[in-house]
Amino acid sequence: MSLPTPPDLDELLAIARRLALEAGALTLDMRATARLQPDHKSSVSDLVTAADRASEAFILDHLREHRPGDGMLGEEGTDEPGTTGVRWVIDPIDGTSNYVHDLPGYSVSIAAEFQGQAVVGVVYDPKANECFSAVRGRGAELDGIALACSTTAALDEAIVGLGFSYHADRRRSQAQVLVHLAPLVGNFRRLGSAALDLAYVAAGRLDGYYEGGLAPWDTAAGTLIATEAGAIVTTLEGTRSPVPVIVAASATLHARLASELSRAIDEAIWTA
Ligand code: IPD
Repeated sequence: MSLPTPPDLDELLAIARRLALEAGALTLDMRATARLQPDHKSSVSDLVTAADRASEAFILDHLREHRPGDGMLGEEGTDEPGTTGVRWVIDPIDGTSNYVHDLPGYSVSIAAEFQGQAVVGVVYDPKANECFSAVRGRGAELDGIALACSTTAALDEAIVGLGFSYHADRRRSQAQVLVHLAPLVGNFRRLGSAALDLAYVAAGRLDGYYEGGLAPWDTAAGTLIATEAGAIVTTLEGTRSPVPVIVAASATLHARLASELSRAIDEAIWTA
């Protein structure tokens, strides 16, 4: 069986950027005209809106027409295998709670993988009109400006982003982790979009970021953007966390943050 032909990365980037910008405009328009229809998913705080569904449908329709044969994975229920070796991983609105509450900080996240490895990533924040992107091996940028992650080495000077679960029992355990970390870390931010958290690590706005229980669509594009900006992004190994925990930070900070976080996780009580 012959191997799939490597894709043209410039073409994939152009498609991802265009779709993220157009889907972002669609979400802004739906919010402005109050077409939200919020609904619950895994818990009462895990929201989905008509705009999540419309954004995903818009992106998928375009990909089916212009990239026939590519695989697709989307947050709102899409999982289609492909034949070309390329798979698109889509979060049509990452940060739906922010979107519903009209808070800043939600994004459209689109990654293209080739043979299981992310090769292109785009994270677009429609409210701020900021488009973060990366191509594997070519660095990351924010609207044409090259990105470099922070060089902060001291944990007690670091601003670290984090996320909380939609499930109350797990949030209680995550709060215990925070109790351990609080005196060690400079300060924390809970921004509400994992894709943007990772893009902010790339931009040096956050020195580090961690979160447990994320899905591929939350992290695929942001992880490539952060690593292409020089950050290290790993999943913690061998902790007592019931779900995988992602840790992103500069090379100067990552080991310290990961080791304190692992210790904090192992001291917490996990019931869910
Ligand atoms: C969520 C956001 C949030 C994170 C959650 C994600 P969604 O994505 O990324 O910051 O804490 O774990 O599920 O549900 O808004 O697409």
